[in-house]
Amino acid sequence: MIIAVDGPAASGKGTIARALAGHFDLPHLDTGLLYRAVGLSVLRHGGDPAHEIDALRACGFSDAMLHDPDIRCEAASKAASVVSAHPAVRTKLLQRQLDFASQPGGAVLDGRDIGTVIAPAADAKLFVTATPDIRAKRRFAQLVGEGSHVAYDHVLTDILDRDARDSGRDAAPLRQADDAVLVDTSAMGIAEAVAEAIRLVETRRT
Ligand code: CDP
Repeated sequence: MIIAVDGPAASGKGTIARALAGHFDLPHLDTGLLYRAVGLSVLRHGGDPAHEIDALRACGFSDAMLHDPDIRCEAASKAASVVSAHPAVRTKLLQRQLDFASQPGGAVLDGRDIGTVIAPAADAKLFVTATPDIRAKRRFAQLVGEGSHVAYDHVLTDILDRDARDSGRDAAPLRQADDAVLVDTSAMGIAEAVAEAIRLVETRRT
């Protein structure tokens, strides 16, 4: 069974995807990590994420990069969102995601274009969302918990900028697939959102 989980930043899609993978005993790929690795790699080499050549060069990142703690930082998030708009970068990262999705037994993938581009024939597709304000509050709490000194307004602006870039780009924009089920987690805690996601996937299983 292939499960596609898409949605905007801090919607809860990563938590839901991990929980689904655990529940259905499937391998999980957070595809955002691939774009973050490219973004971080560009920054480390002193390149510009907006330059396609710099971003393309960074696509040969080492697997160790995926486990680098810096991959979670806000600079890497922003760079990821900029490099991910280059069609050539998306093409470079495509095969790896297709291979992961097509492994025997299936997989859970989360990202922005799983249900639309990577696994259009997925058995279950969820589009996880929440209001920008709620998402910014979650991201803010997470950053403060990690010891960052950030202003809430800054986090909200970053989320809105990223939403605009991810949804407005020509290459595989963030969009709910026609056959994806919407899960609005605005008023849900983690346990409730996970239970709802499991229920929805169960109903789609044949
Ligand atoms: O966790 P969060 O939602 O903040 O970000 P992420 O899922 O790690 O993704 C980081 C950035 O990579 C996003 O803002 C997207 O621009 C990009 N991305 C993408 O274009 N396609 C994907 N399948 C996954 C991420």
